[in-house]
Amino acid sequence: MLTEQHLSVEGSPGPAADRDRWSELIRRDRVHRTLYTDPTVFDEEMVKVFGGRSWVYLAHESQVPAPNSFISVRMGLRPVIVTRDRDGALHALFNRCTHRAATVCREESGIAKSFQCHYHGWTFRNTGELVGTPWPQGYGDLDKSQYGLTVVPRVESYRGFIFGTMNPEAPSVDTWLGAATPWLDYWIDRSPTGEVVVTATAYRMGYRGNWKLAYDNAGDGYHPSFSHRSLLDMASRMGEAKDMSYFGRTPDDGPMKAYALGHGHSAIDQRPAHAGGPGKFWEHQRPQPGRERFEEEIRERHGDRADALLDLSIGAQINLSIFPNLLLIGNQIQVIEPLAVDRTQLTWHATTIGGVPDAVNTMRMRTQEDFPAFGEPDDQANFEEAQRGLAAPEAEWILMNRGLDVVGWQHVDGHGVTVTAVTDELHMRSYYDEWQRRMGGES
Ligand code: FES
Ligand SMILES: [Fe+2]
Repeated sequence: MLTEQHLSVEGSPGPAADRDRWSELIRRDRVHRTLYTDPTVFDEEMVKVFGGRSWVYLAHESQVPAPNSFISVRMGLRPVIVTRDRDGALHALFNRCTHRAATVCREESGIAKSFQCHYHGWTFRNTGELVGTPWPQGYGDLDKSQYGLTVVPRVESYRGFIFGTMNPEAPSVDTWLGAATPWLDYWIDRSPTGEVVVTATAYRMGYRGNWKLAYDNAGDGYHPSFSHRSLLDMASRMGEAKDMSYFGRTPDDGPMKAYALGHGHSAIDQRPAHAGGPGKFWEHQRPQPGRERFEEEIRERHGDRADALLDLSIGAQINLSIFPNLLLIGNQIQVIEPLAVDRTQLTWHATTIGGVPDAVNTMRMRTQEDFPAFGEPDDQANFEEAQRGLAAPEAEWILMNRGLDVVGWQHVDGHGVTVTAVTDELHMRSYYDEWQRRMGGES
């Protein structure tokens, strides 16, 4: 098991340091550009933010559905295999041979009781144990128990969402999700059976920018009317109030709210913009291929349930950000995968749900042609342009002061959650608090 010493990055002060180390670079209203451009900050994040101190999202259980199934993921930069053993228990193994470091699994997913390294043939069980080395006489009396794959010491899942941490002392996933739990429950319970299945093919997009630019944006209710203008113009040509058009009027005067949920998690709630009972999500959705025929069929076949089914065909109308790398947007699970200080991959997983006609799940797939396919490139262009702008060293600061000290915007609700206007940059201020805690060495 890794020690605290192993968890600190060479050149960094390690776990004894405190958050004050960052106080020059993170102020209450701004953060310094180097948090997005300095490779040494990035290296430290990959150890301390991405699983070193607390939880990081790894995969969904539906991606490892059967005994002996596996999926290759990343935990920061660590290549990891999430496996189910023959009894169905979950494991997360470093995809890193203990001989001379080659990955032992080069497939994205599949079924395997064991992994044989391609380099010199060492073989490991899907629980990590070393079971064999070719021509063992060359090692004398090798103690195989010392050379199993390194395992992620804590792996826990919450209703299908699998998280891992390198910190054996981390609080449970339930504790760490905290106030984000009811939001995640809402998203999962849109499935009448509670079953959510990640579809096999992911939608992957790479951008030349820091990973935090995606996290900054996921809780941002300020940008849609400008960044997604083409999407909104298309919707307004339909002559009705369509999904997201409410960002284009005076969003802070409307019923939408943003929530800071603690531990760096946040949410934007667009549901109040669709008030009026079942069927409103569907009514306000932008054009979709086959929409009219689909609606006719659902109404013909499902009578009173039709409005509810139509609503399930489109997005959940919340954006939920679980720090540091899990974003629930619409019906999709988006995973932020940092590759370098200025390079990131965003992976969108579409989901189907149980307890609905196949046609509803088919329409959920088609809804993706709207977002992410149509809308997300707008965001990625912004991320790349922000990274280009960050190349100017004399302009040092990124602002996150919108809403700060504005009278009447933020209040704490009965659950201890801060609620605010939808364009407030509170989500940034709140996740940087968690970032600082982890980078400062607190659990
Ligand atoms: S590196 Fe894996 S067997 Fe040599
Ligand atoms: Fe956006």
